[in-house]
Amino acid sequence: EAKAQGAGTRFDFTEVEAGVDATHHVAEGYDADVLLRWGDAIFADSPAFDPTAQTAEKQARQFGYNNDYVGFIPLEDGSSEHGLLVVNHEYTNEHLMFPGIVTVNGDEITVADADKARVDIEMAAHGGTIVEIRKTDGKWQVVTDGANNRRITADTEMQMTGPAAGHDRLKTNADATGTKVFGTINNCAGGVTPWGTYIMAEENFHGYFMGELPADHAEAANYERYGVPEGSYAWGNFHDRFDVSKEPNEPNRFGWIVEVDPMDPNSIPKKRTALGRFKHEGAESIVNSDGRVVFYLGDDERFDYVYKFVTAGTYNESDRAANMDLLDEGTLYVARFDEDGTVAWLPMVHGEGPLTAENGFESQADILIETRRAGDLLEATKMDRPEDIEPNGTNGRVYVMLTNNTRREEADAANPRVNNAFGHIIEIAEEGGDFAATSGTWEILLQCGDPSVAEVGATFSTETTKNGWFGMPDNCAVDADGRLWVSTDGNSPKATGRTDGLWAVDTDGEARGTSKLFFRVPVGAEMCGPLMLPDMQTAFVAVQHPGDGGEDWEGFGRPSYYEDPSTRWPDFDDAMPVRPSVVAITKQGGGRIA
Ligand code: FEO
Ligand code: CA
Ligand code: CA
Ligand code: CA
Repeated sequence: EAKAQGAGTRFDFTEVEAGVDATHHVAEGYDADVLLRWGDAIFADSPAFDPTAQTAEKQARQFGYNNDYVGFIPLEDGSSEHGLLVVNHEYTNEHLMFPGIVTVNGDEITVADADKARVDIEMAAHGGTIVEIRKTDGKWQVVTDGANNRRITADTEMQMTGPAAGHDRLKTNADATGTKVFGTINNCAGGVTPWGTYIMAEENFHGYFMGELPADHAEAANYERYGVPEGSYAWGNFHDRFDVSKEPNEPNRFGWIVEVDPMDPNSIPKKRTALGRFKHEGAESIVNSDGRVVFYLGDDERFDYVYKFVTAGTYNESDRAANMDLLDEGTLYVARFDEDGTVAWLPMVHGEGPLTAENGFESQADILIETRRAGDLLEATKMDRPEDIEPNGTNGRVYVMLTNNTRREEADAANPRVNNAFGHIIEIAEEGGDFAATSGTWEILLQCGDPSVAEVGATFSTETTKNGWFGMPDNCAVDADGRLWVSTDGNSPKATGRTDGLWAVDTDGEARGTSKLFFRVPVGAEMCGPLMLPDMQTAFVAVQHPGDGGEDWEGFGRPSYYEDPSTRWPDFDDAMPVRPSVVAITKQGGGRIA
């Protein structure tokens, strides 16, 4: 009898063919239905989307741009058919959103010509969406009159909480308390806590600030470590808080983990300072055997760190309210991956080791505001861009996506390739299966890239087909059966001859290291989400920035709103720009995603 392709694999679906074209593709026998597009109604009274007549007011009532993290919070106990979809809107692509920003010959986009109306649309397109959804007759629908529906934007009032809240370094002209901040930005991945709150991670916040710090300002070294200000957006021209010459402390109020109570649309989101300030990728969590909750955190920058946060208190399953401030007290750890295959979790506690006043840390607040510098002093391992990190309660291990690092010149055990163009995945086994442990072991699950090119050094199993390998792991999900799904950011015709997508990766048994392509995105898009619902009958994925990209798309047209774009996904209507969208994947006729 012939050996089945992928013997031992826990995935039965028929693999999609890797490649590049203008639309999305899902495994045979599955439907991939667009559920929510940029501009779609979130409320019963949301104005219709008209890309030629957009306003900030309209945008604040519509689905935002560049959907990234996708989470689901059941509205009935354990339901996989009725709940709140929570979605991050990471950033905006002006050249894809607004007509006339890129000229026909592709002149450089500048922020200089942005007017206030456009900036305010951008700000309203950031943040997140909370929206009720329901599955009826096997298909998902948005419930626009859902009582919890909400848009969170770069203007939403938020509260700073935890050890750094109220610190002088968080005070501004507009907020003498150091606790009241407006908005959240660049929310990449995130999480849903065991108590059903929505976590939005603030990632590349540096891009939103412009201007020059006053000479010899006390925050100069801090901001340099984080790349502030980068000046990628024109917001500071119209809103003083994004201009560091006017509000020099404002950047200290971004780069945090934000927790939102989605069950109260008037709740004030909390920026939880206990989890540190860096370019937070996400915050997926697990309840430890002793009841404490462990959050895994990546800092997505070349040569930055992997962290985890262990709550001081324990999770109370029968009293939701008792959990609502668990994120204000606990211990933040940074990871050192040693050559002998062990990992040490180094506590970031004031007064311990080098984290003292002599080194400029007067209190825990200073450690949390300058978390990266604290990690430097603790000699944590400099990683190849830590993205999403997912604990797996089924096999007791933890999966770390390391997307790439082409600037690496010196390899180490945990980052074994110089010029790491395709990234890798590390698997951690915490000591004794205790997620709160301060040590564990690790190994590399996969070195990504094309296994047929020897110099790449990819380590996919030999059962992996030419469609099954990928580069640049970014977001990931563990499903109810403990299977790993990996989505990517950066595959392209030039980089890997394929678009980004969602791959199913075996982690156990003889199929370990085997990967299969389940879904792929249209040209220029990045694959975000992903999320498998507990009943295993729906996968949600987020198609981010379809049609983006430049010279990479030779033969696919230019990356702009209307000048011969590479794709007009998902509407394929000449009057519509490309629209980032959340897609619901279900099996035709119903059943589990196998
Ligand atoms: Fe927004 Fe690290 O990807
Ligand atoms: Ca992204
Ligand atoms: Ca990401
Ligand atoms: Ca990424």
